Amino acid sequence: MRREMQLKLALFTPVKCALCSTLLLRPRSLAAPKPFSTSYSPWRGLQSWRASPLNEDRRWGSNGPEPLPSPQSPPYTEFEADDDPTASASSLSELGALVLSTSDPLAKSKLSHLAFSRWRRERLGIGVAKPPDRPARPSKPYLVSPKEIPAPKQSGLPLNAYMLHNLAHVELNAIDLAWDTVVRFSSHSDVLGEGFFDDFAHVADDESRHFSWCSQRLAELGFRYGDMPAHNLLWRECEKSSGDVAARLAVIPMVQEARGLDAGPRLVQKLVGFGDCRTSRVVGRIAKEEVAHVAVGVFWFMLVCEKLGRVPCTTFKDLLKEYEVELKGPFNYSARDEAGIPRAWYDESFMAKENKAEQLSEVYERLACIISMEKENSSLNTGMH
Ligand SMILES: *[C@@H]1O[C@H](CO)[C@@H](O)[C@H](O)[C@H]1NC(C)=O
Ligand SMILES: *[C@@H]1O[C@H](CO)[C@@H](O)[C@H](O)[C@H]1NC(C)=O
Repeated sequence: MRREMQLKLALFTPVKCALCSTLLLRPRSLAAPKPFSTSYSPWRGLQSWRASPLNEDRRWGSNGPEPLPSPQSPPYTEFEADDDPTASASSLSELGALVLSTSDPLAKSKLSHLAFSRWRRERLGIGVAKPPDRPARPSKPYLVSPKEIPAPKQSGLPLNAYMLHNLAHVELNAIDLAWDTVVRFSSHSDVLGEGFFDDFAHVADDESRHFSWCSQRLAELGFRYGDMPAHNLLWRECEKSSGDVAARLAVIPMVQEARGLDAGPRLVQKLVGFGDCRTSRVVGRIAKEEVAHVAVGVFWFMLVCEKLGRVPCTTFKDLLKEYEVELKGPFNYSARDEAGIPRAWYDESFMAKENKAEQLSEVYERLACIISMEKENSSLNTGMH
């Protein structure tokens, strides 16, 4: 863990909530715990994900992820020393802006990894940069409204390639979404701390690896990214939340990426049903790794809420309302629990139950109060006699 991050965390005391015995983060300066009725426990894998070495497994081998061939010193081998496209960038946010301005998908994916590698190796600063209004995109795929996306039968792609193409599109967008978060909020690095930027650059690196697996597998099936139209919904939500870091965290990792936790395992099953086990393994691995990205989003959302003195649960719900973001099931509760999203935040029926539990505990408290008063009264009465 980087020093600054430790400092930031040192400002918060983990405390057990008296009612539900879940862990809450309380600023050390506050004497009494705030009545956050939230049940947040961070993803167990968060620390080891943060501490994990650079992941060079950018190819999908016969037995799963593996490094690219000619691994003397990847990823530097991708570019000659004097045409390193990142040479002019000297901070993390400049590197991020460069990735966002790169239109070729494979180049974007490689640059993304190069940027994260330089950040890890060279102790660069976060710096301040301005992201492009929208990330650079290739001329294909055509971006259309969701209604205009062809059905599998009309797409010219077999079902497995069709599903993989959709996933490749999500992963490419995810690279830009993560870098946009790094670059756009770089001017707030004094408040957010280095750990925030390290986490989201790391997310971008993971997504770039996922995109490279998807495009490799598409090529093996005889297709490539851009062979059918794709939608531009993902970027729209990103754009909407560009002025508010809490909104960005709520809308992108905690809603958009959390949808991947629900849909990923279903997609794996469909691909197995279709008979394409190799693609299903790629998708299964990607779905598993997405837990980290949702977890990082929840973690920083909690911290940002604390800093702003806002109650996370209601803040989350208010933001979704304000940004007109819909939560759609069916939810994968176990995956979402693992990632640390409290169930009461997104599940209406669970919310109702929790509210009932809260009302019940109030009734119990009042009862207990009356009983102790009665005891006092009877001892007083006996004393008087
Ligand atoms: C939910 O997610 C977990 C972990 O990713 C997975 O093992 C499980 O099969 C998923 N359940 C459903 C119903 O999709
Ligand atoms: C306790 O005693 C007082 C005075 O006798 C009475 O007014 C009050 O209602 C009693 N409280 C309870 C809980 O019995």
